[in-house]
Amino acid sequence: MFETINPAPADAILGLSEAFQKDPNPQKINLGVGVYKDENGQTPVLASVKEAEQRLLQTEATKSYLPIDGLETYAALCQQIVFGAKHAILTDGRAATVQTPGGTGALRVAADFVRRIFPQATVWLSDPTWPNHPNVFGAAGLQVASYPYFDAAASAVDFDRMMAALEAIPAGDVLLLHGCCHNPTGADLSPAQWQTVASLCAERGILPLLDFAYQGFGDGLKEDAVGVGIVANHSREFLVASSYSKNFGLYNERAGALTLVAADADAADAARSHLKICIRTNYSNPPAHGGQIVATILGDADLRRRWEAELATMRNRINDMRHLFVETLNEQEVTRDVSFIARQRGMFSYSGLTPAQVQALRARHSVYIVGSGRINVAGMTTANMDYLCTAIADVLQ
Ligand code: LMR
Repeated sequence: MFETINPAPADAILGLSEAFQKDPNPQKINLGVGVYKDENGQTPVLASVKEAEQRLLQTEATKSYLPIDGLETYAALCQQIVFGAKHAILTDGRAATVQTPGGTGALRVAADFVRRIFPQATVWLSDPTWPNHPNVFGAAGLQVASYPYFDAAASAVDFDRMMAALEAIPAGDVLLLHGCCHNPTGADLSPAQWQTVASLCAERGILPLLDFAYQGFGDGLKEDAVGVGIVANHSREFLVASSYSKNFGLYNERAGALTLVAADADAADAARSHLKICIRTNYSNPPAHGGQIVATILGDADLRRRWEAELATMRNRINDMRHLFVETLNEQEVTRDVSFIARQRGMFSYSGLTPAQVQALRARHSVYIVGSGRINVAGMTTANMDYLCTAIADVLQ
């Protein structure tokens, strides 16, 4: 039966890492997958995470299953970090949070939930978006469509075209918004633009789904939650998919959460019962370790302070690399204006390199970036910057 199967294409992002591993060039650089590297090109375990793990090792008494929707303390702390500890959504019990295997797991639970309750809904994705978005929603059996988001010539959000498209979205459809640090462009909505989008969603009955995978990587934990807060002020119902892969460096522990906000506590409870069915029929219940680490850190004032300092170090290093990248490209006498890269936020920037230039970067210089031209700024270091910029200057010629 398997003889007739043709090979599937490699994943647009994780497939690159496989190719990178096999590349023998000692100067190779992987700016594909969104993984943070420190100044030495390493992705170390955060010290706050190590400390939390040590505490867990001492205190953990069982490996028995977690509940279908995960740890209650984790869910409560996730809500606090998304909305702020005293937000009315929390005190009114309007949020149902389920622990998920990473942010992708949260998106898939959201997709299964939407498919289960609103099977006719179309999910609207920004163009461009994370290449796995259409796959996740499509795999759940939902229709996906896209709205214009980015003006490549201006290297900025194309807000007028975006709004014109959003105004045509029918009531009951789902609008996926990147909570901060837009992946792949690094270009975010301003607070005023969030207001306009959020009020349109509320007026027209469009369900916002915020993919919130990079909280703390843009301008700060609170600053990056401005968009979520504005949506919360306008819409009584929305979804937030959180990931702790990046901000806690817990990539392989798969720690994430889906938060559903309903009009009241009873509606949130009813919705939770369906989220639990989506989970039980998929992966049964979440892995414990990553969630326990996050809950240990967020639940302890000292550990939390240490984690926030480590997060700030990562964020500042990325922003420093943005500036150094622009300066070094300018030194290479790259004639195009690349100053927008320093203004963008999060791990990624859209370089504007064509697919042929991306291919040439890889073939001639062993520099790996996503086919769309997305560059992971968090993979740059002062040590690899000259090599990288010389390579880019070469393929631009
Ligand atoms: C990325 O966009 O590189 C990350 O979100 C990792 C992934 O799973 O694709």
